[in-house]
Order: sequence, then structure tokens, then C-alpha cells
Amino acid sequence: EKGGYDHFMLKEIYEQPSVIKDTYRGRLNANLGIVQMAGVEDNIEKFLNAKRILIVACGTSWHAGLVAEYIFEEFTRIPVEVEYASEFRYRNPIINKDDVVIAISQSGETADTMAAIKLAKENGAFVFGVCNVVGSSISRESHAGAYTHAGPEIGVASTKAFTTQITVLTMIALRLGKAKGTLSNTDFHTYLQELEIIPEKVKEALETNDRAKEIAAAFKDAPNCLYLGRGYNFPVALEGALKLKEISYIHAEGYPAAEMKHGPIALIDEHMPVIVIAPKQGHYDKIVSNIQEIKSRSGKIIAVVTKGDTQVRELADYVIEIPETSDALSPLITTIPLQLLSYHIAVMRGCNVDQPRNLAKSVTVE
Ligand code: F6R
Repeated sequence: EKGGYDHFMLKEIYEQPSVIKDTYRGRLNANLGIVQMAGVEDNIEKFLNAKRILIVACGTSWHAGLVAEYIFEEFTRIPVEVEYASEFRYRNPIINKDDVVIAISQSGETADTMAAIKLAKENGAFVFGVCNVVGSSISRESHAGAYTHAGPEIGVASTKAFTTQITVLTMIALRLGKAKGTLSNTDFHTYLQELEIIPEKVKEALETNDRAKEIAAAFKDAPNCLYLGRGYNFPVALEGALKLKEISYIHAEGYPAAEMKHGPIALIDEHMPVIVIAPKQGHYDKIVSNIQEIKSRSGKIIAVVTKGDTQVRELADYVIEIPETSDALSPLITTIPLQLLSYHIAVMRGCNVDQPRNLAKSVTVE
């Protein structure tokens, strides 16, 4: 049942405040300073002794892995590598016994991700699954894991799975950062508190829906689109572009903003919409100068900014305002308007939002 929404995708976008809460419930308590997950506690030594964390996944789950790379390295100082499962499995990869391999998969059935963890196990690594579907193949094949509690995701385009994956991975990073002492006590407690109130901010970010619709109407006929972000929001740019291409069939590319001048800037003219993720926290000044570069080449700028922003507003053609949060948690918020934007563009183009052409919800063949 779509619960009064026109599409499952929209329903699932709107479920994010509650499913993020479901995902941390019983695991996170900011007042008590606790963040724990059974699968992590039972294997805490494996995590703490890890020389390296390897993340394997596909598609949107791979994007969640990239966000996690930034978070893990910052909070735990453990080196992280994020691999497309399909590339990893066929590369004769280097896998060590003291590697922790995290497999991220909504369905828990993705063939390449499954093959990647089998290979990791054969080589003696500890495999931890972050899956949504309880009892799925990947969750069973993993040594341990932590479920996302997103509930069934019906729309082929992944939305709530992505934000709940980031929630679980952030909690793991917090737990390890605290234990290793790589995250200060103050930062640890601040992040716990911020994560606890993230559902409220996601709710606030959903209020950008009308704005997203208005922007969608202006750009629905664009043949191409660029998404730019830096740091924690670089993977969000990739995810924004993937959402747009898969449901609206508009060609879109995500880039780290600073890579523009190494090629993609040649694409920019007055017909190119460029969606820039530019929250106040993070590399704000850098992204402002990236926006200036686009502007001077007449690109159309749609910027996702923190409420109250003035500097980007002066440069951008459209701004979407989101609530402020720390840099590390911002992907949970910046993702929301991008999901809404692709949704509305797809609807306006008459696309089959919940079942885009050529795509399957669960990719059980390679
Ligand atoms: C994009 C999308 C796909 C999946 C990918 C991995 O919206 O849904 O890119 O993310 O096929 O699927 P899981 O997470 O089930 O392994």
C-alpha cells in the first residue's frame, strides 16, 4: 500500500525520519553516551584490531560506502577502501586476515556483493554485513552484521535504504572512534546528540518538497545535469546523479567539485543545470569559488544550502535550504532534496517512477 502517496518512492522518501529512528532505536542513547550494536560488540576486538576496512557494495549501497569511508577515517583513523563488488571479485584482490570487510546491501541478494564476501571469507577476513532484508543471503553469509531497519523498500530507486545504511555505518564509526580514542569525548557526545535529532532535521528537509517541485518544473527537459559536492557530500553528488538518471532517464554525472577544472567544466554553458551541494559546514569557501567558476561560464546553478545562507544565494539561480548539522552527518540531510528533485522530474516526464525501465530491485545475476 502506498499510504496515500502517488508512488512508493515518495512514500519511502517520507518514511526516512521514522526509519532512521527505527535504525538507531535500542542502539543509541545520547543521554547515557551509549552507541552499541550486538554484531559489533560481539566482535569488537576484530574491529579494533583491523589494519584496514574494506567496503564492498554496488550502486547506491556503494555510495553509502563512500560516505562511510570519510566518516570511518575521520572518526577511527582506520584506513578504508571502498570497492565495487564486481571489480573487487575479479581482480585477485589483496585480502588480509586482519581486514574487516563490510558488505552493504539493501536486498542482501546482490550477486556481485555475495561473491565478494565469499572471496573475502576464503581469504580469512572477517565479514560484516549491513543489510536491510532480514535473513537475506548476504546477511547469512556474513560472520556478523547489523541490520538497517528501513522496512520493505518497494521503489526500485533506493532512498530510505541509503540513509539508514549511513546511519548504521555512522554508529559503528562512533563506537570504534570512542574505543580507540581517535574521537574526542566531546566530539563523541556531540555526534550522538546530533544523530539522535537527525530525524527531526530530515523531517525539516522534507519541507523542501514544494521548492524541489518548482525547480523540477524548470529543468525537467534538460538533457544533461551535473552534480557537485566536496568531502562528505561528494558521494551525495554521485547518489543525486544516479537517482536522476535511473528514474528520469536524464544523463547526469556526479563529480567532486574541484575536479570540474580537470575536464567537466568544458560541458558548462547556459543550458547545463549544475546542482551544487554547498552546506555551511565543510569546505564552504571552496565550494563558493567552484560556484563562481560555473557562474562565469553561464551554467544554471541549483544550490543546496544551509538555512540563512546569503553568499551562495547571490550567485545561484535557485537555492534549496536545509537545516544545519555537522559536516560528517550532513549527507543524511543533503540527500533529501536531491531525492525529491529526481522524483518530481521523473513524474513530470511521465516516467514509471517505481519501476524504471531496464532495472530490477534485486540484482541476483552478475
Ligand atoms: C539505485 C539502486 C541500485 C542498488 C544496487 C545494490 O537506486 O537501487 O543501485 O543500490 O543494485 O543493491 P543492494 O543494496 O540490494 O545490494
